[in-house]
Amino acid sequence: MRIAVVGSGSVGTGLARAWSGLGHSVVIGSRSPESERVVELLASLGNGVSAAGLTESVADADVIVLAVPWGAAEVSLSALGDLSGRLVIDATNPFVGGLNLGIGYDDSGGEQVARWAAGAHIVKALNIVDARLLDGKKLDGREISIPICGDNKEAKRVIGELIAELGFDVIDVGELEISRLLEPLCLLMIKLSIKKSLGAEIGFRVLRN
Ligand SMILES: NC(=O)c1ccc[n+]([C@@H]2O[C@H](COP(=O)([O-])OP(=O)(O)OC[C@H]3O[C@@H](n4cnc5c(N)ncnc54)[C@H](OP(=O)(O)O)[C@@H]3O)[C@@H](O)[C@H]2O)c1
Repeated sequence: MRIAVVGSGSVGTGLARAWSGLGHSVVIGSRSPESERVVELLASLGNGVSAAGLTESVADADVIVLAVPWGAAEVSLSALGDLSGRLVIDATNPFVGGLNLGIGYDDSGGEQVARWAAGAHIVKALNIVDARLLDGKKLDGREISIPICGDNKEAKRVIGELIAELGFDVIDVGELEISRLLEPLCLLMIKLSIKKSLGAEIGFRVLRN
């Protein structure tokens, strides 16, 4: 599958490494694809991962991942051009001024992304897992659960399979509106990781028989 990962930070790098290692064709969408930092990143990733400017990066992509800070989400989406009918993973969390959710209760970052990227099929996913675990590392012998939500069933099927390939336990939790619950959950995971000193190797898991 051709995957465009928009953002060359922790999440973008982790996903590019993991999916390219599984044989997918990955291009990183960057504001500065020719910078020394990005060139070095590509060399360290190998596996044919390339970089391109934002618009160019998504041109042939089957799936696009938004992996930029919340404050850059609107401008980044706008730079991607018309995303009607495209499959987009929203991995962002709407943090403003540090670890504060800028949207919540009756709206969500996921829904805001859908308004900015009019016509795109947005699937909220991968926002609650630490970027250092994107290779699907098991914890306590189990796969980490990745809840996904979105309004388009086919988009959730394709994206769910792609995330499951990484080694995660994917759970379809419903419509995009459920982002209102997934974004605060990310904050809980960060608080456990940092404030309670549990570190990076913690994950959310839904146990069931
Ligand atoms: N870190 C995690 O463990 C984690 C886990 C789950 C979800 N998330 C969410 O995923 C998103 C990305 O997180 P991250 O940790 O990968 O962020 P990051 O390491 O700070 O990287 C973000 C990337 O976005 C691009 N970008 C575009 N506009 C930017 C701007 N104005 N300022 C800074 N960077 C900009 C940059 O790539 P270019 O310079 O190449 O354009 C940058 O490398 C965030 O919304 C975060 O909440 C993070």
